[in-house]
Amino acid sequence: YVDVRNIASINPAQVKPLPVDDEGLIISDAIKDCDCVYTTPSHQYPTTVTMPLDRRRKLLEMANEHDFVIIEDDYECETNFKQAPSPALKSLDQHGRVIYIGSFSKTLAPGLRLGYIVASKELIAEARSLRRLMVRHPPANNQRSIGLFVARGYYDSLASTLVNAYKERHQIMGEALQACMPNAFEKPSFGGSSYWIKGPDNLNTGELKQLAAENGIVIEPGDIHFLGDNPPLNYFRLGYSSIDTQKIAPGIEKLAKLIDQLVSN
Ligand SMILES: Cc1ncc(COP(=O)(O)O)c(C=O)c1O
Repeated sequence: YVDVRNIASINPAQVKPLPVDDEGLIISDAIKDCDCVYTTPSHQYPTTVTMPLDRRRKLLEMANEHDFVIIEDDYECETNFKQAPSPALKSLDQHGRVIYIGSFSKTLAPGLRLGYIVASKELIAEARSLRRLMVRHPPANNQRSIGLFVARGYYDSLASTLVNAYKERHQIMGEALQACMPNAFEKPSFGGSSYWIKGPDNLNTGELKQLAAENGIVIEPGDIHFLGDNPPLNYFRLGYSSIDTQKIAPGIEKLAKLIDQLVSN
């Protein structure tokens, strides 16, 4: 996730890119010398793939064996609609290796600036002290309101409403992509709010972004999600969390034509 990379580089921490496949973070020797591993197991960002249980267990074993901490950013864990949710790494963690973080930005409103951490008392105390120096604290009335919203079960109802809406849009977008850009998306994800698309090799998604915007379509070029020089320019993300369902199929059809137009020039 690009902002985690940005935060680490302010620190400054030495950032090591770790490869992912269609089951998320690959558990390899490359992890052994890390002090801290950041991962998004529910839906790997940006590919959206879900890390299976055996890989989660393996990652925890490695954390114990090689003495590193895992930051589990469980963003969009609520929008998992293709299978029974996998247990969070935090729930499998017997040795206090995992710092679990979640956000209300995607489900409620990013402007609230509210999220949560599940970690040891000592870590929470330290995080509070640091937060005080950076933002003091989010408004207490917002914290209290959201606390009550969660405690009284309204958040769960909201999550199930979102899941129903996203599930339908995910399916419609998947079918439209299959029809107009077959083989362009990676293994189907188990939820989330976007598709990660691989365009033709000679597609420049910076150009596509501009052309698409002129045609009323918003895409996010994927190059910022790769670490290192010369990232590929043919990947992009397509979100469906705030688009009218009936606009999805015509939009994909139009986008496919724009891609053809760009790559055949
Ligand atoms: C991978 C990932 N983690 C976390 C967040 C949430 O960030 P915040 O709570 O700062 O809005 C996002 C939002 O886009 C995200 O994409």
